[in-house]
Amino acid sequence: MILEKTAFRPSEPEDRLAILAVQRRAFGGEAEAKLVDSLISGPLPTISMVADLDRMIVGHILLSQLEGPQKSLALAPLGVDPEWRDFLIGTELTNRAIARARDEGWHSIFVFGDPVYYGRFGFKSELARHVTTPYPGPAFQALELVQGAVAEYRGSVRYADAFDQV
Ligand SMILES: CC(C)(COP(=O)(O)OP(=O)(O)OC[C@H]1O[C@@H](n2cnc3c(N)ncnc32)[C@H](O)[C@@H]1OP(=O)(O)O)[C@@H](O)C(=O)NCCC(=O)NCCS
Repeated sequence: MILEKTAFRPSEPEDRLAILAVQRRAFGGEAEAKLVDSLISGPLPTISMVADLDRMIVGHILLSQLEGPQKSLALAPLGVDPEWRDFLIGTELTNRAIARARDEGWHSIFVFGDPVYYGRFGFKSELARHVTTPYPGPAFQALELVQGAVAEYRGSVRYADAFDQV
């Protein structure tokens, strides 16, 4: 029901303040909002999508280009307003963002998060195990949009400078 009333769409410049507010509420602090603000106003390619419920932004997801395997993205942050959780808004935002990344020709996506949550989208810690990262461990996961994009890569990933402040 909630999902049917929600539009999942690319963000517009006018959404900026609402996006920052929802990320602040989702994470209970400023860090992720600041990260989003730097990334969406910065030079790197991003995929930024909002969940819009009756013109109220209740969720936001951001993917930004990563230095590492060719055509690779970092998924961070994903935030859903605490008042609107468990309605599959996070799931739908993630599925839509992955589909968009595929359509745009990206080859892989990395995330640092709960493997149970991100496993449902096909992210795997095992796949990312050989990649050197500032965030090592099972929470560091990868999803291939092009077969072999991560499995055949040997090297490191470097996140945008904006991640240093998180
Ligand atoms: C994680 C988050 C985006 C999920 O949004 P949501 O719209 O409530 O998620 P959905 O309704 O699509 O999915 C609900 C599932 O997520 C799980 N979940 C909720 N919060 C979670 C968390 N912080 N970590 C792992 N799983 C979580 C729920 O247990 C539920 O699991 P189930 O489907 O097995 O019952 C939201 O809880 C949030 O914004 N959390 C704070 C910010 C955060 O931790 N973001 C993720 C960063 S990696």
